[in-house]
Amino acid sequence: MMGSMLGLSLETWILLITCLCLFVMYGNSTFGVFERLGVPGVKPFMYFGTVGRHNKVYYIDDELSSKKFGRVWGMYEFRKPMLAVMDPDMLKTILVKECFTYFTNRRNLRLNGELYDAVSITENETWRRLRNILSPYFTSGRLKEAFAIMKHHSSKLKASLQPKAQNEEVVQIKDFFGGYSLDVMASFTLSVDLDTIDKPSNPLVSHSSKLFRVSVPLFLFQGCFPFALPLLELMGASLFPKDSLAFIFKFVEMIRADRTVNSQKNSGDMLQSLMDTQANVNGKESKSLTDHEIVSQVATFVFAGNETSASTLVFLAYSLARNPEVMKRLQEEIDATFPDKGPVQCEALMQMEYLDCVINESLRLYPPAARLERVAKETVKVNGITIPKDLVVMVPVYALHRDPEFWPEPEEFRPDRFSKENKPNIKPYSYLPFGAGPRNCIGMRFALLMVKLALVEVLQDYSFLVCDETEIPLEMDPQGLTGPLKPIKLRVVSRSKQ
Ligand code: HEM
Repeated sequence: MMGSMLGLSLETWILLITCLCLFVMYGNSTFGVFERLGVPGVKPFMYFGTVGRHNKVYYIDDELSSKKFGRVWGMYEFRKPMLAVMDPDMLKTILVKECFTYFTNRRNLRLNGELYDAVSITENETWRRLRNILSPYFTSGRLKEAFAIMKHHSSKLKASLQPKAQNEEVVQIKDFFGGYSLDVMASFTLSVDLDTIDKPSNPLVSHSSKLFRVSVPLFLFQGCFPFALPLLELMGASLFPKDSLAFIFKFVEMIRADRTVNSQKNSGDMLQSLMDTQANVNGKESKSLTDHEIVSQVATFVFAGNETSASTLVFLAYSLARNPEVMKRLQEEIDATFPDKGPVQCEALMQMEYLDCVINESLRLYPPAARLERVAKETVKVNGITIPKDLVVMVPVYALHRDPEFWPEPEEFRPDRFSKENKPNIKPYSYLPFGAGPRNCIGMRFALLMVKLALVEVLQDYSFLVCDETEIPLEMDPQGLTGPLKPIKLRVVSRSKQ
């Protein structure tokens, strides 16, 4: 017999073949959802699903899938079915109209380590309670207070570029903008002046930029074997880089504990305001946060605000360097608004029209969050498509922003798409750099102010130029936020020399 020829008994062969069949069946067992729903999509491959089928960069893969299948398609992230939706009418229903009823939550893989109670991760009532407590930190009044903090750091940013511009040096632009955004976030939340612009070796810089890079082996493992999730959770496994998360948590917790022991008040920062809510509970439990919740929210704000804003500024500098006529027009608006390089004022900054167009256009081409996610709490029909309970709805923002029907010649950097005259032609829900609806980015207005200020201060004195070291077109990073694989390099020159 063949079995005995290979030195194996018939029983062993039967066992091996059964195991192989079970392995194959399990690897395919979640597939077929979209055929049943009548939704098109790529044919999945055992265990790997449709990951990286058209391109290894997941957001470029989305763009290519949308070209093939239209605005709604089915995909499998390993074994997990996900419905990709970039139809604006459906997006309005999912993100806004039915947010509280069916689509309140993002996917929660449970492997969140210390961030389990962060506003971005919590669900349903817990999320609503946290969101209600945190929203007042982003009112117009609070933003004006934060503007003073931002100005302190933007002037340092400007000064740090001065020697580089003097010598017309080629710089890795992220080194500057990354330092600025981290310094602003640390000052706003903790009143700590990290001064990373001048001291880039501060370990917080590298730790906070790593937080968006989830552990690939763990992500793959949980994707193929989700039944192991409770065990992984028990073992304390975390998708976020453990060392970096621990470092940031320790840092925030140290400051919080120090303030409790020393009763040292540092009014104005977010940590203190959240701690003050604990002192003023008066029986209204829901208005106060636990010590752990406070540390989680502060840590979340530092990392959610830092990398996204830095990346926005980096892509702005890159796009301006590649489009000198746009940069010139923007500098003319800046000079007219703040003559003789006068101090940048909050109100006037917010009124600048062309600046707004330039930032919108850069966020269209390079939205830091390339995808949004919501999970259906119950089975629901949206625009004729049945979305079963627990199905992940994924919004491919990067692909949506490059849909040629909404954005003619989408690869072109054209800020005028967002001009006063053209804005009414923009299809609602075709532009979502900050998400939409009640679960959108809580820090949107803060982020826009911080980005506008840095850009204006820098462009008052300097220009960005492409050089031999500038990569065109960019090779994109397959992991984390929308970003370049290699750091973007540009030449910085002083405007007075031009
Ligand atoms: C240009 C910079 C930024 C971009 C592009 C950005 C983008 C986003 C996006 C797309 C989401 C998901 C929205 C959704 O699911 O509908 C989000 C959520 C969030 N962002 Fe931002 N963000 C930026 C800056 C900030 C800043 C400065 C902060 C804090 C001060 C912040 C805090 C948050 C938080 C806490 C959430 C989760 C909100 C929730 O679940 O309720 N972000 N952001």
